[in-house]
Amino acid sequence: MRPLSGWTRYQRGDVTLIRTKIWMGTGNDHKYQEAKKVLAEYGIELERLDIERGEIQADEPEEIAEYSLQVLDSDKPLLIEDAGLYIDKYGGFPGPYSSYALDRLGNKGILKLMEREGDREASYLSAVAYRDGDITATFRGEVKGELSHEERGTGGFGYDPIFIPAEGDGRTFGEISDKEKEQISHRARAFRQLAEWLIKQ
Ligand code: IMP
Repeated sequence: MRPLSGWTRYQRGDVTLIRTKIWMGTGNDHKYQEAKKVLAEYGIELERLDIERGEIQADEPEEIAEYSLQVLDSDKPLLIEDAGLYIDKYGGFPGPYSSYALDRLGNKGILKLMEREGDREASYLSAVAYRDGDITATFRGEVKGELSHEERGTGGFGYDPIFIPAEGDGRTFGEISDKEKEQISHRARAFRQLAEWLIKQ
């Protein structure tokens, strides 16, 4: 007999999924749509709280996501995601400063910095902090890759046109479909962990 999926087991009553509907605090529709599709695979509905979140300066995306969640006053089962691009050669920069670097330099500016750089390895990290009453949990997803030499593609958002995932065929995240990105992205990986944890609760 085939093993039952988490959701099937839930429907049989063998395990309890504490929530089938949770909220994400974000002003970024790309992030929300991607997370929503991933959670839907597990039968979990994601609603959006359209907020400008408070951020602290910290090295780890987990700390930033957890802080942003802490200062949000809501009795809903709620999550906050923090993500960024980490360039190996620059000790992880822009990392926690990813929004700032994108605003100030843009993808063209980042490529200019990297112009003579042979080592182009980089990763995206995503941290998801979740709270439901007294229960809190944080998850991390990562995708490794490298930076392209020019912007390619119009899909995705942010750094996607300059990020080539190692698990792909050489196309940037800007050149692949949303569906392909959802198979391997940092965000999809963090949200899958959240879903699997929710199912086990
Ligand atoms: P934050 O999580 O909203 O703070 O994101 C930090 C920065 O990283 C923003 O400028 C985003 O555009 C960028 N970023 C985060 N996730 C992604 C992604 O999946 N693709 C492209 N850029 C991203």
